[in-house]
Amino acid sequence: MWAGMIHLRARAVMPRQVSYRAFRMPRSGGRLLEYPACRSFIIGVLMQASSRAIVSSQQGPHQDLMRRVQRARDSEWQRPPAEHTRLAFAEAARWLEAQCRPLILDAGCGVGLSTRRLAERHPDHAVIGVDRSELRLSRDHGPLPDNARLVRADLVDFWRLARAAGWRPARHYLLYPNPYPKSTQLKKRWHGHPVFPSLLALGGVLELRSNWAIYVEEFAFGVEVLLGIEGEIASFTPGVTFMTPFERKYGESGQTLWRYRVDLAPSLPNGEPAR
Ligand SMILES: C[S@@+](CC[C@H](N)C(=O)[O-])C[C@H]1O[C@@H](n2cnc3c(N)ncnc32)[C@H](O)[C@@H]1O
Repeated sequence: MWAGMIHLRARAVMPRQVSYRAFRMPRSGGRLLEYPACRSFIIGVLMQASSRAIVSSQQGPHQDLMRRVQRARDSEWQRPPAEHTRLAFAEAARWLEAQCRPLILDAGCGVGLSTRRLAERHPDHAVIGVDRSELRLSRDHGPLPDNARLVRADLVDFWRLARAAGWRPARHYLLYPNPYPKSTQLKKRWHGHPVFPSLLALGGVLELRSNWAIYVEEFAFGVEVLLGIEGEIASFTPGVTFMTPFERKYGESGQTLWRYRVDLAPSLPNGEPAR
């Protein structure tokens, strides 16, 4: 009986077309899925626990990585920041100044769950979550703590504006950035992007999390090439409190999660302690 597999296409409920295979229930013979409430529940469970591990033709760090990182270091990126990010940054800067607390940046915060968690964990800090997706930022996850702010902006510009304004975050989180696993996509990964030197120049304790070990290794390699600083890479188990929805999805699918931590403070050119 268990051998009977049904193929469930859940186009109506999910943002993209996704196919799932589910076992036929031994007693109900599959009829369980005819009830909408049961169907939504099952789809919910399947969505949470069925994230696939990253597939890439890369078996290790990209062979072009060193060249790309050096190129970013040697040539400053000239594209002027977009007006909407300029305005969003100016507003965030005013808010930060009024907070009079050290900054924590949550870069690519998605729906902002991690921004909330960080703000609760660090009530003596001001936490800014940045994401370019209005849709994600607008999801209702309850009120934001007073010491947290969500900003819709393109990080490529936001980081450069933050650098120019002399921001020195005490902590900087990059939680599950888009992996861009095709080897032709190296330039889209943060460490392969021309903005990488600006991101690092902000200093502070930087933490990157990913479900793709190669992404984390490449990023760490980029930091070593640019700053000569060695961080720490480790796998970890999040425990019951997931920091972000992606962490939850990967964790519940049994994927290994990777964390890279590095203290960039010593690299600050003016020797300022990280705020
Ligand atoms: C894989 S999601 C992870 C979201 C969240 N950190 C989490 O773990 O649930 C990557 C996020 O980075 C954001 N992102 C990607 N490129 C960006 C950019 N240039 N500027 C701002 N946000 C960006 C996307 O909108 C998306 O929300």
